[in-house]
Amino acid sequence: MTRYATIVGTGSYLPDNTLTNEDLERMVDTSDEWIVTRTGIKERRLAETHHATSDLAVEAGLRALACAGVAAEDIDLLVVGTSTPDHLFPSTACITQAKIGLSCPAYDVNAACSGFIYALQAGTAAIESGRYDTVLVIGADALTRHVDFTDRATCVLFGDGAGAVVLRAGSEQGVMAIELGADGTGAELLKIPAGGSAMPCTVERIENREHYVRMNGNDVYKFAVRMIPKATIKALEATGNSVADLAWLIPHQANKRILDTIEERLGIDDERVYSNVENTGNTSAASIPLALDDLYTSGRLRPGDLIGLVGFGAGLTWGAATVRWTMTVPNKGDQ
Ligand code: ACO
Repeated sequence: MTRYATIVGTGSYLPDNTLTNEDLERMVDTSDEWIVTRTGIKERRLAETHHATSDLAVEAGLRALACAGVAAEDIDLLVVGTSTPDHLFPSTACITQAKIGLSCPAYDVNAACSGFIYALQAGTAAIESGRYDTVLVIGADALTRHVDFTDRATCVLFGDGAGAVVLRAGSEQGVMAIELGADGTGAELLKIPAGGSAMPCTVERIENREHYVRMNGNDVYKFAVRMIPKATIKALEATGNSVADLAWLIPHQANKRILDTIEERLGIDDERVYSNVENTGNTSAASIPLALDDLYTSGRLRPGDLIGLVGFGAGLTWGAATVRWTMTVPNKGDQ
């Protein structure tokens, strides 16, 4: 019998601490009007000062376990998609594993904003191979820790958060297809130059603010609107479906203008494309599982729904998944 990986629980976490466009107006030369027109973002969340990425991951992971009704001891693999780890090592997955009380293997996947789709691929393949039965997949990032709050071109874009799913082996098709891609020739377009082995942090590099996010926004924009439709269609075609069959498309929440353009290119109406970027900003690897959890817990996903998940990010990387939703609509008291 063919083994499939099915999503049996979702969870997410957004910190309480909110940074609005009005707050940013007091910090850099920007305006609510500029930010909303170019990005659709009104506010984003900042991790509490005593929190690291693993703390966000733990909250989302525990919520996904509770939603699935799965005990910590039943998880036999943890994969965390993140590009803002607590430390260069140990992995954020190991720290998260200990905090949740898991005893399984644990590792990080770094594909920047495509991190969740890459981690989902790792979890799905682990189940399909027969090696693991129940996998916790988390996307978590605290990008605001790496953003230069004197650079108006980047500091308005990002927020912190985490989202998670529990995958379980079953005979029913859940994660139907995943298409990943990478083009390292675009590595310079979006990066944190200093802090790794290529450019260890020195006083001079910190003074030059090279330990913060650098981005060529225009080129990243062009890449996103080119690759998202292609990847979405490829992952749908692999299952014999088309855009018309999608109940929901859940794209990485980077920017509302990007979402509007891909809607046009895919010929999908706005009502079937989920967006919460207005209130979260770009939460990197967290954005897709955060959106998925939002849709599920608000009762908008029904068993049998076909869902497209699609991300893009630094690397350059991209990834799309086609998923058949199997979970029943949650009772109001469940969440
Ligand atoms: N407030 C006011 N003005 C600003 C701001 C700001 N926050 N930021 C830039 N500007 C100015 C610029 O200085 C420029 O001024 P000038 O014309 O006098 O030189 C002007 O606005 C236009 O700047 P552009 O960069 O050309 O603006 P653009 O329309 O391209 O929008 C944006 C910028 C929103 C960043 C867009 O390029 C974009 O969305 N790119 C994709 C970014 C993205 O999704 N990144 C995340 C990738 S995922 C990951 O892996 C992290």
